[in-house]
Amino acid sequence: MERTLTIIKPDGVAASLTGAILARLEQAGFRILALRRLHLTRAQAEGFYAVHRERGFFPDLIRFMTEGPVVAVALEREQAVVELRRLMGATDPAKAEAGTVRKQYAASIERNVIHGSDAPETARQEIAFFFAQADLL
Ligand code: RTP
Ligand code: MG
Repeated sequence: MERTLTIIKPDGVAASLTGAILARLEQAGFRILALRRLHLTRAQAEGFYAVHRERGFFPDLIRFMTEGPVVAVALEREQAVVELRRLMGATDPAKAEAGTVRKQYAASIERNVIHGSDAPETARQEIAFFFAQADLL
């Protein structure tokens, strides 16, 4: 078993897609370990996406991620990291495969509905960013 973190981004929450996306994840064999709805502060969003802080899109990314509430979810499944990334589809929905969440719901490379951890070590850090050990039993 492996763990990963997903975030339903502000565009997905605002469009009432949280339930549909969580259903897709459960149908794909992910177990929901812990779940939180929260409105990220600027500092939280900058911390979460710190790896991208030198990128040109960073200010837009932070504005987007703080424009409304998100739903953060710790997930468990075999090969959870790669399987979530597969189900999400490419960052740019125009390049995402048919049947992926981003292909179906995302508006653009920036407003792309869902986040997923990119490696098991990142997943550990990202789960700890949102959840205490006692939330994950
Ligand atoms: P995420 O971290 O949110 O799961 O997305 P990702 O791995 O597919 O893509 P990443 O390269 O980590 O980028 C993080 C988020 O920044 C926004 N972005 N905008 N305007 C742009 O060129 C651009 N590139 C990335 C997206 O919201 C992307 O998901
Ligand atoms: Mg990423």
